[in-house]
Amino acid sequence: MELRDFLSALEVEGELVRIPDRVSPRLEIGEVTRRVAAAGGPALLFERPGDFDIPVATNLFGTARRMAAALGVSDLGDLGDRFLRFLDLDPAARRSLVTEVDEAAAPCREVVRDGRAADLGELPVPLAWPGDGGPFLTLPVVLTRHPETGEVNAGMYRVQVFDARTAGLGCHPASGAAAHVRAAEAGGRPLDVAVALGPATALTYAATVPLPPGLDELSLAGFLQGAPVAVVPGRTVDVAVPAGAEIVVEGRIQPGERRPVGPAGNHTGRYAPAVSAPVIRVTAVTRRDRAVLPATQVGPPPQEDRWFVRATERLFLPWWRRRYPGLLDVHLPEEGLFGHIALVRVARGHGRDVLRSLFSAPFLGGFKLIAAFDEEVDLRDPSQVLWRLGADLD
Ligand SMILES: Cc1cc2nc3c(=O)[nH]c(=O)nc-3n(C[C@H](O)[C@H](O)[C@H](O)COP(=O)(O)O)c2cc1C
Repeated sequence: MELRDFLSALEVEGELVRIPDRVSPRLEIGEVTRRVAAAGGPALLFERPGDFDIPVATNLFGTARRMAAALGVSDLGDLGDRFLRFLDLDPAARRSLVTEVDEAAAPCREVVRDGRAADLGELPVPLAWPGDGGPFLTLPVVLTRHPETGEVNAGMYRVQVFDARTAGLGCHPASGAAAHVRAAEAGGRPLDVAVALGPATALTYAATVPLPPGLDELSLAGFLQGAPVAVVPGRTVDVAVPAGAEIVVEGRIQPGERRPVGPAGNHTGRYAPAVSAPVIRVTAVTRRDRAVLPATQVGPPPQEDRWFVRATERLFLPWWRRRYPGLLDVHLPEEGLFGHIALVRVARGHGRDVLRSLFSAPFLGGFKLIAAFDEEVDLRDPSQVLWRLGADLD
């Protein structure tokens, strides 16, 4: 579903609150969003973000129900079977889940600012925390193409806006985008990049999924939404961009060019220190006529990002179970910061084998702590979990 159709559907359901008052993107939007997201409240549409003309939408995916609706399922538990069916598709069927359209059929080109006219300063990019290094695009779908294989990666990585035409790409060294940057640099070439803001909701989610090699996020999004993702060739870059996106920033990363990105307040409750990151030199900003900028507030749990991880936990569960016999359930508690603590339920007698395999499993392999429990333990009951940990930790 395109973002604006999702916004309309949420409004009909009473799940969207419009805020007509002037609210500054400098700290205010973030703090209002933080409180509403922590309370499991509605999606928010800030219609007057300071002096900007472009509204900001936050907390779009802030409940299990909204995340399920964004992905076209009635319950997040339904995602797992879908993913197994996606894995079973042959490569041609997967490719057919992405389709190229003409510029005339691409709403993301209704307003075009090329070259020196491109100006990130027109976007109401929120400054989330007082100690942040600057304003960050927090729900971006960053698209790159591997310079040799042509493989397309779509990943969600914070983008720090430095000025009108420069930004920093805060991607983890293990990410798909970082691998593309390294491959381009190894050949001494620049890397084209497109940052899609507010593409179809399934694509915004798919960009956060740590897919195994050989699978691409655009196809996954097409499969989840039951219709191909429409893309249009980049205007100034050699990367196809989602035709229905609200806003697209195109640019180029020059080999070896780095600038500090951060600090950035994050879900640990602390600031992640600044890191040296690739610099995007912006070549175009295109957008819909009445574009909306989506954003999220990253901070101590519970926040909106918990539903991204919950969705992926449900998406991957049947696949993990198929790979690791004896594994019954997985719970990634939000206090475990999605990448740090995993609780798993295992059939009696399989604990050690399953645990050993999980430390090299897709996604879970990177976790700091994986704890396995017997069948009768309720992984979602902290009291039971801590009691069994205390009794059985050896
Ligand atoms: C709201 C949100 C923000 C994220 N921000 C970042 C980020 O700034 N940097 C990063 O490397 N990963 C970030 N991630 C995690 C990546 O999106 C995730 O690891 C994804 O699998 C990356 O795609 P890749 O495997 O193709 O690199 C974020 C995830 C979410 C849900």
